[in-house]
Amino acid sequence: MPEVRKFFIQTHGCQMNEYDSNKLCDILKSTSNYEETKVAEEADLLLLNTCSIREKAQEKVFDQLGRWKKLKKHNSNVLIAVGGCVATQEGENIKKRAPQVDIVFGPQTIHRIPSMINKASQKNNKLAIDVTFPSIEKFDYIPIPKSCAVSEFVTIMEGCSKYCSFCVVPYTRGEEVNRSLDEVLFEVNNLALKGVKEIVLLGQNVNSYKSNTINGDIVKFSDLIKYLSLIDGIERIRHTTSHPIDFGDDLIEEYRNTKLANNLHLPVQSGSDTILAQMKRKHTSLEYRNIIRKVKMIRPDINLTTDIIVGYPGETDHDFQQTLKLVEDMNFSDAYTFIYSSRPGTPAAGVKDTLSIEEKKRRLYELQELIREQSKTYSQKMLGTTQKVLIEGFSVKTSKELYGRSDNNKIVNFPSAKNMIGKFTNVMITEIRTNTLYGEIV
Ligand code: SAH
Ligand code: F3S
Repeated sequence: MPEVRKFFIQTHGCQMNEYDSNKLCDILKSTSNYEETKVAEEADLLLLNTCSIREKAQEKVFDQLGRWKKLKKHNSNVLIAVGGCVATQEGENIKKRAPQVDIVFGPQTIHRIPSMINKASQKNNKLAIDVTFPSIEKFDYIPIPKSCAVSEFVTIMEGCSKYCSFCVVPYTRGEEVNRSLDEVLFEVNNLALKGVKEIVLLGQNVNSYKSNTINGDIVKFSDLIKYLSLIDGIERIRHTTSHPIDFGDDLIEEYRNTKLANNLHLPVQSGSDTILAQMKRKHTSLEYRNIIRKVKMIRPDINLTTDIIVGYPGETDHDFQQTLKLVEDMNFSDAYTFIYSSRPGTPAAGVKDTLSIEEKKRRLYELQELIREQSKTYSQKMLGTTQKVLIEGFSVKTSKELYGRSDNNKIVNFPSAKNMIGKFTNVMITEIRTNTLYGEIV
């Protein structure tokens, strides 16, 4: 028997990266005689799955690599691998700034890691690098997981072809590619057989999804949801992230489907038409409002969340006021808010940025205060209601409590005498502390 080696993996960034890291674990365990460790000091292979969406995220990578350099000093057999978006963005340059790195892999080449490890193990100090975008082949190499959680991610498409002026994703994850309907159905069927009750469809723009049936008929995202809701055992379907321009009436109508969960994350970025145009978002604030108006006609109490950037180059106070107005009118129950970060290689990077950092921070703070209030109000409204909760596990604080997620994607904690993980139960919300909901089984 060859010696079992240990790997440690750290993940930065979005859910796509989390998904890739999980799959990377499955690949290493099934093909390379590796087992996972949660202690970096024990590992023979250190993997860092990175994010480059903002400058801060990118700098975090080099800080971490600095810390790992020390581990390598103690044990020269340790291999260091860098994956994800910084890997694609920087490529071989990573080795210049961090010579301790042995392997560089991209979001689309996680399945090639075993052969890259072999190359790097030859110890010729040559970088094993593959940051290409070999279409959608990685999914052919991902093993079927041995065990599953009650809720599982399912990637349905990769990359992005929208090219918003500020964003690196189309360059780091490549152009949009879709998995076939057959493949997605096969995967979800398998998950259902393993007891999975909820799936979260993942992609940079899930609602741009397109595939074909064997008869050649086009399958859109709304059709995919219809097909997936027919699978026995799958009780709840979530998705993230969507883009407003592909949010057609067919998808809005799908919100009548009771298996489609009662939350929607729909990034808007700004409430100003001038800024939206400069960002190349391809829609106006009114068009966004119309989508939400129609969705809320079907789901008045939907948990609606968004992404917003403040301080885009040239954003005036008037533009910012329009963002605040949109946030109020849409009554978002939460939002990821960011200060614009100039990313090398994107069109916006060439636009002169005149706003001071103090003003950007002030705008961010004002926006976040508004969202905090709205978020509180949304949770408060749930007090006294009964929610259908899918139980995911034991609460972090005590084993006498379980936690799960309501249909509108809120975490709920409640006492339970027996272990009911994996089951749906009705919970009455009795208390709300900051962002956590507490309740009792009814
Ligand atoms: N569709 C994607 C969006 C990717 S990036 C998804 O899966 O979520 C997530 C969010 O980061 C964007 O919606 C945007 O609000 C923010 N973002 C992207 N590039 C940025 C930049 N250069 N500066 C600040 N925020 C940015
Ligand atoms: Fe980025 Fe815009 Fe695509 S934010 S991920 S380029 S939709």
